[in-house]
Amino acid sequence: MTFNTNPLFMGNAIAAIHKTLRAELFAVSALLSHPAAGIDEIISKLAEIRQLLNTHSHQEDSALESLLRDYDPAMANRMEDDHLKFGAQLQQLCAQASTAQALPEHRHCELIERLYLDWNRFVGEYLLHLDLEERVLLPALMRQLSPVESLACTLLMQAPPTRREWLGTGGAHAGRVAPSNGSLSLEMSR
Ligand SMILES: [Fe+2]
Repeated sequence: MTFNTNPLFMGNAIAAIHKTLRAELFAVSALLSHPAAGIDEIISKLAEIRQLLNTHSHQEDSALESLLRDYDPAMANRMEDDHLKFGAQLQQLCAQASTAQALPEHRHCELIERLYLDWNRFVGEYLLHLDLEERVLLPALMRQLSPVESLACTLLMQAPPTRREWLGTGGAHAGRVAPSNGSLSLEMSR
């Protein structure tokens, strides 16, 4: 797969993917807060979102790291460190859920409650990471555009596609950002 490093394309693709990531993070929070949630379902959902977030981190590292390093080396280091930290935290959360599964059923409730707190703390940190990327990293990319491209991008960002449009088979943007093997991938040709 070759990466399309056009800043306009990447900025819009990443912003759209981040909307979906936020929705998936909140979906796991909702599952963990549901009184009927079983440990098997929780383990499966955590494994799924771990793959999704890890794949996204790798894609950002591959597509953006060199561009960002030219603009702001400290920010590039921060992004790289964050991705490593989140990978380790996701591994820990999945291990925590697997530990709960091995314990007697009467202890599941207490351990799921702890997992709920730990997961939401992770979500809080991850949301700040996404926020930083969108407020700092994407504008840095946009500054590489010509005035005409910049205006076009601003107009596009004012009316971002909905999650359904990006992911659905019939949406105007279908195929530009699509789930693949449980992950979101950037389709890198225009
Ligand atoms: Fe990131």
